[in-house]
Amino acid sequence: MDRYVVRSGAPLSGSVRVSGMTKNAGLKQMASALLAPGETVLHNVTPVADLGVMIDLVRAVGAGAEWTEPDQLRLDTSGPIIPEAPYELVSRMRASINVLGPLLARCGEARVAMPGGDNIGSRKLDMHFRGLEAMGADLEIVHGLIEARCETLCGTRIVLDFPSVGATENLLTAAVLAKGQTVLDNAAREPEITDLAAFLNRMGAKVHGAGTSTIEVEGVAGLTPVDAEVMGDRIEAGTILMACGVAGGEVTVAGTRMEHLEMVVLKLGEMGLHVSPTPDGLWARCDERLRAVDVATLPYPGFATDFMPLVVALLATADGSAIVTENVFDNRFGFVNELHRMGADIRNEGRHAVVRGVDRLSGAPVRAQDVRAGAALVVAGLAADGETRVLDPYHVDRGYPDLAGQLQALGADVQRVRPAPA
Ligand code: UD1
Repeated sequence: MDRYVVRSGAPLSGSVRVSGMTKNAGLKQMASALLAPGETVLHNVTPVADLGVMIDLVRAVGAGAEWTEPDQLRLDTSGPIIPEAPYELVSRMRASINVLGPLLARCGEARVAMPGGDNIGSRKLDMHFRGLEAMGADLEIVHGLIEARCETLCGTRIVLDFPSVGATENLLTAAVLAKGQTVLDNAAREPEITDLAAFLNRMGAKVHGAGTSTIEVEGVAGLTPVDAEVMGDRIEAGTILMACGVAGGEVTVAGTRMEHLEMVVLKLGEMGLHVSPTPDGLWARCDERLRAVDVATLPYPGFATDFMPLVVALLATADGSAIVTENVFDNRFGFVNELHRMGADIRNEGRHAVVRGVDRLSGAPVRAQDVRAGAALVVAGLAADGETRVLDPYHVDRGYPDLAGQLQALGADVQRVRPAPA
């Protein structure tokens, strides 16, 4: 059966380079490429499972997508675009919703099925909808389809209730072709937003203030496709740091930036994992049992929610007790039951979990429930006696091109077992 098999072993040692951040950054560039007729070339694209869905999606709306090198994807949006994103694709991945803003801005209409994605909370779209309506779009949900239409999108001031990453991206990509100025207040500040704004500006957009809470966009009449590189994956980098915290050892992670991981590095430092910047990434060392510290997730620059399951895996064997609070998603603790199977002592109520560190976890069959929870179980297995089998590994494949390979390169005993071909 398809699974990860993990055994604890020697402390980690060595260097790895992080992959391109395809899931949270590259897919958004692909959706934004739909704004401009012509050829966009993306470099440093890694083949995570969600990429396959986005390739099918851009093809379904009439664009071409082909690999020109092993990590280079060419998108051709010269032909007519059919602004219709079907349920079969959209239901498989949350990031599909990112085509709504670009399709509406380019075509004046869009029909996009309601999206799917990880099962970590209610994941509403009200801020996406309210923002597009404020810009002059009419939106209706009919038979599970978001039907959006506009004569002209007009710039306006939009205040988000919460700094949603997806809503900021969708409104930003609609605003670049709108008439006049759009001001997005309480915008998300994640590095992926800054990266997307830089991508749009290279296409000729006029976006200022990305990376702060107020983004100003002067609408332009048209954009021109560009060549661009997908940024290094800060979540993969943080996952490797967490693995070092669990297994101990000394690792170098290239292709990322310390400032993108500042809060994680701060928390890991309080726990006893030493991290310093290198010219091209990070160096980390852990030579003692980690100490428990409380963690609360928040939008960037706070402690990212994507690291929450991983830090719970770390705390499961840390010295002492800690309270973990999840402030971004409302149902992200499902994986705790799986850690219980491995002997962890965790009590969860609502948005909080109390984690009491145990000396050692015990390897067990467990099930990945979403991408980061799956990664957390693989990492937890590095500190467990015996064998940990992580089932439903396809969740992990959605965001990590080769988590087992990355950990093996550091000396960990992790295998990604695939079923034999029929
Ligand atoms: C993105 C990332 C995900 C990351 C998350 C927060 C991708 C593909 N996924 O997800 O890895 O964990 O940012 O950093 O890039 N919300 C509303 N109404 C809305 C929009 C969002 O209530 O209109 C709520 C959501 O239910 C959630 C919270 O806001 O509770 C944050 O969601 P959001 O920032 O939009 O996350 P995503 O863009 O879905």
